[in-house]
Amino acid sequence: MRFTIAIDGPAAAGKGTIARALARRLGIAYLDTGLLYRAVGARVAEGADPVAAAQSLTEADLARPDLRSLTASEAASRVAALPAVRAALVDFQRRFARRQGGAVLDGRDIGTVICPDAEVKLFVTADAETRARRRWLEAGGEYAPEPLATVLDRVRARDARDMGRADAPLRPAEDALILDTTELDIDTAIARALQAVNDRLRPRD
Ligand code: DC
Repeated sequence: MRFTIAIDGPAAAGKGTIARALARRLGIAYLDTGLLYRAVGARVAEGADPVAAAQSLTEADLARPDLRSLTASEAASRVAALPAVRAALVDFQRRFARRQGGAVLDGRDIGTVICPDAEVKLFVTADAETRARRRWLEAGGEYAPEPLATVLDRVRARDARDMGRADAPLRPAEDALILDTTELDIDTAIARALQAVNDRLRPRD
C-alpha cells in the first residue's frame, strides 16, 4: 500500500514527536524534512554554495551529529528561503513520500507543496510562548544556556521567517486537520493524530 501522512507546523509544536510515534505505531517510514535544510545549512556555514550543497546531499550529511545545533537551525531557516534550494530537495521528498508501505513526512510545506495529494494532512501548532518554554526546558530550564526570553525571541524570529518567505511559506493546507497542542500533553496529541489517520484510512461505506 502507498499512502502519505503530511505533518506541518512551526518549530517545537510537537510535530516531530507525533510523526515519529505515528510511523512507529503504523510501521511506516519517517522523514524529518527539516534535516534536509539543516544539512544544507551546515554545509553553507562551512562555506559551501547553497544550491550545490542541496543538489549533492548524501545520507552521511543527514547523519551529521551537529544538525540540532543553534548554528544549523539558524542556517537552515535562511537557506530554506531560497527557491533554488527548495527546488533541489523536492524530488527526494516526493520519492520518499510515495514509497511502498507508506510514509510520514514532517516539515513546513509537506501538505501544501511537496505532497498536496497526501491521504492525511495534519497541521500541528501551539502558541509561541508554549513552544519557547518547551525548548527552554529541553535545554535545561534554569540551567539552560539562554534565558527563556531569548529563546522566545528566536522562536518568533524563526516563525516570521518561515511564514513570511515568498516560496512555500509555512501555512496549513486547506484540507489539513489543525492540532493545537498548547493545552495537550504529548500522549493526548499522539492519540488525536492517530485517530485522524484511522478516520481517514478507514474504508467508507
Ligand atoms: O523543523 P526544523 O526546525 O528542523 O526545520 C529547520 C528549518 O528548515 C526551519 O527554519 C524551516 C525549514 N524547513 C522548511 O522550510 N521546510 C521544511 N519542509 C522543513 C523545514
